[in-house]
Amino acid sequence: MKETLIIEGGTPLFGRVRASGAKNAGLVLMAASIMADGETILDNLPRIRDVEVMIDILNSINVDTCWKDDGSLSIHPPAGGINKQTSYELAKQLRASNLFLGAMLGREKEAIISLPGGCDIGSRPMDLHIKGIQALGAEVAIEHGYIYARAKNASGARVYLDFPSVGATENIMMMAAMTPGQSIIENAAKEPEIVDLANFLNSMGGRIRGAGTDIIKIEGVQQLKACRYAIIPDRIEAGTYMVAAAISGGEVIVENIIPTHLHPIVAKIQETGAYVREVEGGLLVRASDKILPIDIKTLPYPGFPTDMQSQMMALLCLGEGSSVIVENVFENRFQIVDELKRMGASIKVEGHTAVVKGVKTLYGARVKATDLRAGAALVLAGLAAQGETIIENATHIFRGYENIRQKLTNLGAKVR
Ligand code: UD1
Repeated sequence: MKETLIIEGGTPLFGRVRASGAKNAGLVLMAASIMADGETILDNLPRIRDVEVMIDILNSINVDTCWKDDGSLSIHPPAGGINKQTSYELAKQLRASNLFLGAMLGREKEAIISLPGGCDIGSRPMDLHIKGIQALGAEVAIEHGYIYARAKNASGARVYLDFPSVGATENIMMMAAMTPGQSIIENAAKEPEIVDLANFLNSMGGRIRGAGTDIIKIEGVQQLKACRYAIIPDRIEAGTYMVAAAISGGEVIVENIIPTHLHPIVAKIQETGAYVREVEGGLLVRASDKILPIDIKTLPYPGFPTDMQSQMMALLCLGEGSSVIVENVFENRFQIVDELKRMGASIKVEGHTAVVKGVKTLYGARVKATDLRAGAALVLAGLAAQGETIIENATHIFRGYENIRQKLTNLGAKVR
């Protein structure tokens, strides 16, 4: 299905918007739910396309799911065990499908995982995931596009990650949670979503310490018990609406946030001149008369998130001077540049660095969302642009933003 978002730019946004539950926490918790006996209930899970695909994967491996009237999702693995193989057709739609690797190895000691798809933002290999599960004793073979892994004699071990990969940390943590003995992940990812996964596993009876630091210690347990759990708010979605306020010349309160998770984003938005203040129930963002040019380097948490890089680029396109953006996490995350140029932006890319020379005005144009966050950035550019912006491939945007059209409309934007 081809989907399109059309934005009539030039209206400052005002009002309140509520951040949904975090996509990246929700997806990994959905995978981890198969490790528990009984019915898990997840609250605050966003109703987005990626979550729908994850539900399809759960159903395809014999796990029952059901949206409840209160908006929560029930996930119930069968007592007799799950189907231990994810299909190519579903896995190619979603990078996070790889998270069944650790979850299945933990519970079933066996997994056959189709090499995953997802946003086309770089090569996204799985070497660190595989190195980690092998250190814990998994036997791994990669054949015909599938990872075959068995962990019959696995035991706790020390794993050093060459790079603090979010997915690798999560997969190793899930496997280790049900692998006998103590495992230690060194140079682990420190993202809030990692902490949420540890809290979730601990609520099910897991024994994990140190999540949120670069050393995570895990004592394997034999059994995990289902629980009810509320997912953290989405810091990237919140950040996107903060930029929406700043780029449109408006004033918005973003509700349902955890302020510390937003520090790296707030710091950079403030540097551009916007006024940001914690208020009861959220963060207020007020645009300034002029957008100041700034430099950004993306880094693992608590550095500036790569998932906010494109949105900040859109803002800096209207800066009063030149900004430099260095992308250190994914090698292919500047595809948005050509789309922003269609709207009148002036950007030069060399390797991992983009130099954004601010222009006075962006103009509405027909553009294409090349990935999820690029799509979000085009929405932001469209809000500030003169005239109509037509965003093709908007499906990418709906993968990660719950009710984006409605939320923006409530703030006064003209979106259809
Ligand atoms: C997760 C997020 C994604 C975010 C990213 C970085 C989910 C579902 N997605 O993706 O939104 O942009 O973290 O914050 O949570 N790498 C390797 N070998 C590996 C694994 C990763 O070289 O085995 C490299 C990747 O190519 C990339 C970098 O490490 O350059 C970061 O990847 P990683 O942290 O693993 O991101 P994801 O878990 O895929």
